Amino acid sequence: MDLSVKLGQLEFANPVIAASGTFGYGLEYLPFVDLDLLGGFSTKGLSLKPRMGNAVPRMVETASGMLNAIGLENIGLEKFLSDKLPLLQNYKTRIIVNFFGDTQDEYVEMATALSDVTRVDALEMNISCPNVEAGGVQFSSDPAVVRSLVESVRKSTGKFLIVKLSPNVTDITEIARAAEDGGADAVSLINTQIGMVIDLETRKPYLANKTGGLSGPAIKPIALYHVYQTARAVKIPVIGMGGISNTEDALEFLSAGATAIQIGTANFIDPGITMKVIDGIRRYCQTHAIQKMSDLKLMED
Ligand SMILES: Cc1cc2nc3c(=O)[nH]c(=O)nc-3n(C[C@H](O)[C@H](O)[C@H](O)COP(=O)(O)O)c2cc1C
Repeated sequence: MDLSVKLGQLEFANPVIAASGTFGYGLEYLPFVDLDLLGGFSTKGLSLKPRMGNAVPRMVETASGMLNAIGLENIGLEKFLSDKLPLLQNYKTRIIVNFFGDTQDEYVEMATALSDVTRVDALEMNISCPNVEAGGVQFSSDPAVVRSLVESVRKSTGKFLIVKLSPNVTDITEIARAAEDGGADAVSLINTQIGMVIDLETRKPYLANKTGGLSGPAIKPIALYHVYQTARAVKIPVIGMGGISNTEDALEFLSAGATAIQIGTANFIDPGITMKVIDGIRRYCQTHAIQKMSDLKLMED
């Protein structure tokens, strides 16, 4: 059974990818996941310099999900390249480096620095972060900003470039088209949905950051809708995510038009979930006489 998928010129052994921020730098999951069988994983979001992230509490469980305001804590690009990547050298999985910057120049610097690193298969630009030069408005919210940001990153790297979209916008398809126009090879969506929780003992927001990003099953129908719309709005491949917790969820996203899927929060509940979903997709294809992944289409199409 051939589960391989092609995102442009980049082939994955199967469509299952572990999502950024929920899979560390890959190595943390070695006791649970066979990295030779996993389609790919996206690293924790990296920046030029290490970051400590936000004050605690920065995570809280919610109905069918969780809220986080980690604040993009990470070890920084240099340490990733010197301490983590060499240990990942011989695994077959695709390595996607998720990255971000405070300014357009920082994005370009990151992409340039990663361009010649052969073991890195793709870059995933997280645009759901504050643009320091524009008073902290998120890069992701303005199509003109997204287009120009992607254009400048595109010029600085030949790597496969994925732009990760935020659902906290009026029309995600407009942002997806801006990323495509800017030269993205693929888009991935959705990042977390902004939310909050209040502690009734103190009557203060539970998270030190006050607001956080909602993820997990609670956002799945919203994410699926955005993926469905976006897959019809752009020609480049769409990587779908948001609340995928089992095989059926993954198959829904693939049917809605995603070429590959990412699994995030579900890794915290079952660190071996990616392996189970790969097996489940294989079983579904066998019982439904599906020969190749591109045959998994929504019947309305
Ligand atoms: C604790 C945590 C940290 C995350 N960190 C990042 C990150 O660094 N970069 C990024 O692009 N997305 C990050 N995300 C978003 C996930 O990659 C994913 O888009 C989102 O959680 C929706 O998928 P899920 O419902 O399967 O978790 C993070 C999510 C969680 C829960």
